[in-house]
Amino acid sequence: MRYRMLSLALSAAAVRAAATTYDYIVVGSGPGGGPLAAELARAGFSTLLLEAGGDEGDNPTYADLMNFNEAANDEATRWDFWVKHSDDPERELKFEHTVYDTGDGTFHIGPDPPEGAKHLGIQYPRAAVLGGCAMHNAAVCTLPADDDWNIIVNKTGDTSWEADNMRKYLKKMERVQYLAAGNPDRGYDGWLATSVGDTSWAKNNSNPQTRIAKKVAELTGQDPENVASLVGTDILAKADKMDEKNSFYNMAQHMDSQGKRNSPNNYVRATIADPAKYPLTLQLHTLVTRVLFDEATVGEGKTPRAIGVEVMEGPSLYGADPKHVKGTKGPVSQILAKREVIVAGGAFNSPQILKLSGVGPADELKKFGIPVVKDLPGVGENLGDNYEGSLLALGQAPVEAGLMTLLFRTPSAPDKKRNIFTWCGAFSFEGFWPGFPTDHGPTQYTCAIVHMQPKSQTGTVKLVSANPQDTPDINFRFFDKHGDQDLKELVEAADILREAIHAAGPPVQPLVEQHPCKQTLNCTFEEKKEYFKTQAYSHHATSTCAIGGDDDKFAVLDSKFRVRGVAGLRVVDASAFPVVPGAFPSCPTMMLSVKAAEDIIAEAKGQK
Ligand SMILES: Cc1cc2nc3c(=O)[nH]c(=O)nc-3n(C[C@H](O)[C@H](O)[C@H](O)COP(=O)(O)OP(=O)(O)OC[C@H]3O[C@@H](n4cnc5c(N)ncnc54)[C@H](O)[C@@H]3O)c2cc1C
Ligand SMILES: *[C@@H]1O[C@H](CO)[C@@H](O)[C@H](O)[C@H]1NC(C)=O
Ligand SMILES: *[C@@H]1O[C@H](CO)[C@@H](O)[C@H](O)[C@H]1NC(C)=O
Ligand SMILES: *[C@@H]1O[C@H](CO)[C@@H](O)[C@H](O)[C@H]1NC(C)=O
Repeated sequence: MRYRMLSLALSAAAVRAAATTYDYIVVGSGPGGGPLAAELARAGFSTLLLEAGGDEGDNPTYADLMNFNEAANDEATRWDFWVKHSDDPERELKFEHTVYDTGDGTFHIGPDPPEGAKHLGIQYPRAAVLGGCAMHNAAVCTLPADDDWNIIVNKTGDTSWEADNMRKYLKKMERVQYLAAGNPDRGYDGWLATSVGDTSWAKNNSNPQTRIAKKVAELTGQDPENVASLVGTDILAKADKMDEKNSFYNMAQHMDSQGKRNSPNNYVRATIADPAKYPLTLQLHTLVTRVLFDEATVGEGKTPRAIGVEVMEGPSLYGADPKHVKGTKGPVSQILAKREVIVAGGAFNSPQILKLSGVGPADELKKFGIPVVKDLPGVGENLGDNYEGSLLALGQAPVEAGLMTLLFRTPSAPDKKRNIFTWCGAFSFEGFWPGFPTDHGPTQYTCAIVHMQPKSQTGTVKLVSANPQDTPDINFRFFDKHGDQDLKELVEAADILREAIHAAGPPVQPLVEQHPCKQTLNCTFEEKKEYFKTQAYSHHATSTCAIGGDDDKFAVLDSKFRVRGVAGLRVVDASAFPVVPGAFPSCPTMMLSVKAAEDIIAEAKGQK
């Protein structure tokens, strides 16, 4: 078998002969790639898991979930993508936490940069580490709306994506820590521990947050007298017409009952350490630079076949890594897969890897001299994300309580589905920038708002060069389509929560709002809208290699994650979702990963 060298001039010395061949090569160990690699190996297939980062599983910054903000700031794993929210340079500069490189090794955040500083953009953190972003995230674990799964059935006709069926993957992977044994919908012996926070504060009628919760109940059609039990409603429980319910919930997280983070990191390591000696090989500090195709299969009228990957070995080789030194390279080699290559680099890197390999929009590839293996116009398109913002106020005394979490529908939402996920408490969360978050002192009180079902997914991930060490150009084009409607929903959410927090009573009142209304109770609808338009942030990017139907020219994958028009290649990560999955993608992506493993194993066994 010959493999395609593409146009890259590799010196013969740099190409190390591929010593071992694996059944499967999985690129990236996050919620998409990690569980999949472990499951393939457990099914007896020799599997190589390639990860650009290292392993920080035993580092308390990552292992103790309460350190999640520190983890997301940590240079040991941080990949900084400097993204845009729009095509309007003026609007970009209005983002209060936009970042400049001062040139002396420091960042400048916000307006009035020093002379000569270079504008970088909006920081979008990702984690390059065993376990991916599930190692620095807040580990919130919740399911998408049923329609977010069902839409895949509609697009592809594949009924295995029905929401009811998808639940079984939660059950399969979960090791629930907070329910009594015997719940038939839930898993007790899986690899992913789930736990919930304390909600006993709501039993205390003198707690200011209990007063806030009662007001929220009144405003969202729940029983104010019953908040003590309502705030403990299980967010992962199966419930009838769940997506149309305004309801308080407990905050479930992928952590164990001791507060230790749980993620694909644990599953991969447990699989490698298992006495059964599953054939899983983990190779860290390895940047996959492209997928290799069998040259004999490339060309007019043929179906190109992926046969392996090209890698560059060493730490900090990617430009997003703050420790990366421009121009540094590592040894390049090629590794072959007998069966398939599965790309799981996340919503920014999976489309980049496909494009670098010649799979993507032909015009864009040609611009950078990349030979076109398969013209696939949807690669790197359809980028979507939750719009996020927050209501932040400073009180006269601290609110001492755990988190109050709820999902609700705002009045103008276009259908019956709830459109807002919020959690309130004595913290601050205003988006991402180097050094985030700002500590506003002990009296800070925030309701973090995550908007669901965004009506625009016109963001893009585009190459800036053919160099795999360069980060791509990422533009979310927030509010590009139906923006007025989504902004209205955000304003409505803040208005409801504002009314609620002002029920806090003494000694917290008066609460002085910091945003969206700066120190006034009466800023106008237009002012609030402008606030969200310029200050919304996000960190749940998805959908850049979307599953779609045969008749959709922007579909990148079929319903079995196969890259359309090529053989031996799949994408299994958050890029596969055609629409933004609910409010939080981490658990849904792990469910999708376990589903992919089941599909791939069934297919491989059928072929035997
Ligand atoms: C700060 C933060 C907080 C978050 N909080 C939550 C939360 O509380 N709940 C929730 O549900 N979601 C949360 N998310 C989002 C969630 O973590 C991601 O959606 C999820 O991790 C996506 O999984 P993935 O496998 O698609 O990609 P990733 O998790 O990004 O994993 C991709 C992996 O591939 C590796 N990789 C990429 N390119 C290459 C390459 N070329 N070669 C080798 N390896 C490569 C990366 O190093 C990485 O390990 C958060 C995200 C961030 C950034
Ligand atoms: C799927 O299609 C049916 C029939 O056209 C429609 O009623 C339903 O709303 C669609 N569901 C989703 C999630 O798109
Ligand atoms: C109830 O809340 C009030 C106000 O925060 C606090 O002073 C009191 O100690 C709490 N009571 C209990 C039993 O926790
Ligand atoms: C809010 O009300 C105050 C006092 O009535 C007034 O001075 C101020 O202009 C108002 N602000 C806005 C934005 O309407």
